[in-house]
Amino acid sequence: MRHDLDDLAEDPLEPLSTPRLRLRAPLAADLPRIAELANDRGVAEMLARVPHPYTLEDAEDFLAIAEGSVVFAVALAASDEFIGVCGLRPTERARTADLGYWLGRPHWGRGYATEAAQAVVDLAFRQGGMDCVLAGCRAINGRSRRVLEKCGFQYRGTSTFVSLAAGRVAGEQFGLDRRTWESLKAWGRLGAEAC
Ligand SMILES: CC(C)(COP(=O)(O)OP(=O)(O)OC[C@H]1O[C@@H](n2cnc3c(N)ncnc32)[C@H](O)[C@@H]1OP(=O)(O)O)[C@@H](O)C(=O)NCCC(=O)NCCS
Repeated sequence: MRHDLDDLAEDPLEPLSTPRLRLRAPLAADLPRIAELANDRGVAEMLARVPHPYTLEDAEDFLAIAEGSVVFAVALAASDEFIGVCGLRPTERARTADLGYWLGRPHWGRGYATEAAQAVVDLAFRQGGMDCVLAGCRAINGRSRRVLEKCGFQYRGTSTFVSLAAGRVAGEQFGLDRRTWESLKAWGRLGAEAC
């Protein structure tokens, strides 16, 4: 069945630019780097669909699935070097998308995930016409929870999900609705200059 998100999944994806990053369609040239960075137990165990060990064939499968989806390769703007993935998946609910992301370990801790996620969330609401963006993370994933908090997501409850690398794990669900996103964007523009 067609989802509202399908309108965004143009082929090729329109790239997004942020101050330090370029989000673009994943390319065959990225395959070796995807395989290298995703082949990290600490990455795979935080995700649902990334196996460990992760091979070049897994990267090829990812590339095939990404085609026609709203899945961006996150690349450094200065060099176009692939550093991770950020994208949206349709959910069973109309005008509701699920946000997901991972970065290669050498690139953690520089605010890149937040920068990429904010660009994709803006896309979801601005061009994608979504009413809500959902995201989930493992209960032990403080880094990812922090990314979601910095993007304005609110805690919605607990869950469990199956990770290919870690088995069934405890998770937390977060959501960002359109009105909250609009308010945060307006706050950025209209907030007081000094406290
Ligand atoms: C989660 C992930 C994407 C974060 O990437 P990142 O680029 O390091 O994220 P950012 O730098 O934008 O933000 C990380 C925040 O977490 C904080 N943080 C770091 N370690 C933390 C910890 N152990 N507990 C809580 N917060 C932590 C950082 O201080 C930062 O917050 P701050 O800016 O307020 O200081 C990256 O670690 C990753 O790919 N992990 C494996 C896959 C994964 O977990 N994907 C998400 C699945 S839901």
